[in-house]
Amino acid sequence: MRKFKKQPLTHAQINAIIHAAQQAPSSANMQPYSIIGITDPDRKKELARRSENPPIVECGYLFIFCADLYRLMETASEEERVKMKSNLSFNYFYQMALVSSSIALQNANLAAESLGLGSVIIAGVTRALPQLERWLELPELVIPIVGLAVGVPDQIPEQKPRLPQQAVFFEDHYTKDLKADVEEYDRETMRYYTTRSSNSQKASWSGKNKKMLTADLPLDFWTDYVRGKGLDLR
Ligand SMILES: Cc1cc2nc3c(=O)[nH]c(=O)nc-3n(C[C@H](O)[C@H](O)[C@H](O)COP(=O)(O)O)c2cc1C
Repeated sequence: MRKFKKQPLTHAQINAIIHAAQQAPSSANMQPYSIIGITDPDRKKELARRSENPPIVECGYLFIFCADLYRLMETASEEERVKMKSNLSFNYFYQMALVSSSIALQNANLAAESLGLGSVIIAGVTRALPQLERWLELPELVIPIVGLAVGVPDQIPEQKPRLPQQAVFFEDHYTKDLKADVEEYDRETMRYYTTRSSNSQKASWSGKNKKMLTADLPLDFWTDYVRGKGLDLR
């Protein structure tokens, strides 16, 4: 969904979305995520600009999903805290936090859709990590992952084609030679991108991936950021 009516979500809609997110399963029931709503229009504008996602400005509500390993230590003694923080630095717990946050995120996404709303997940909001840190007053071990912009739809989005099933689902062993399937998908996505009604472009799935992943990506800051949040990942 890339176009929203300028209509805020109701409290009932926000509560239903959060309720659905919280029903998600999570690793060892740690519920290692927090969801923070951004209500200030200037902050939404700034996030839209930095993530190059104009729909954020118009959307009815913007949720920021964060991996959260902080709350787990809430009742811990100083001694327990030291040991817990050391264990939380195993990559394993960060992964479990990301997976659990993602499941809650998709529950929220589906709940929004079932309420007749539209939504878009936006990892680009993390280009504003320093601002999010400051505005949201995030403690250590709380790491913003993505934004979820939800609102009243102002378009009927076209369905983006997916990879052929045999390129994604395998039985008994992984299939390495996927070139023919990927080439077929490239032709299909080329048709989709060149003919779609908005933001049409001459692009294919492989073309987009190659463009993105052969660039010099300034993403080192993410590793430093996560370390700076108290997760000395190992
Ligand atoms: C983890 C994740 C991060 C995403 N981040 C962005 C983003 O930063 N900007 C954006 O425009 N779309 C973003 N999206 C939306 C995807 O581009 C979109 O879901 C994908 O192209 C498939 O299209 P569809 O959802 O319309 O079927 C993200 C989706 C996911 C799941």
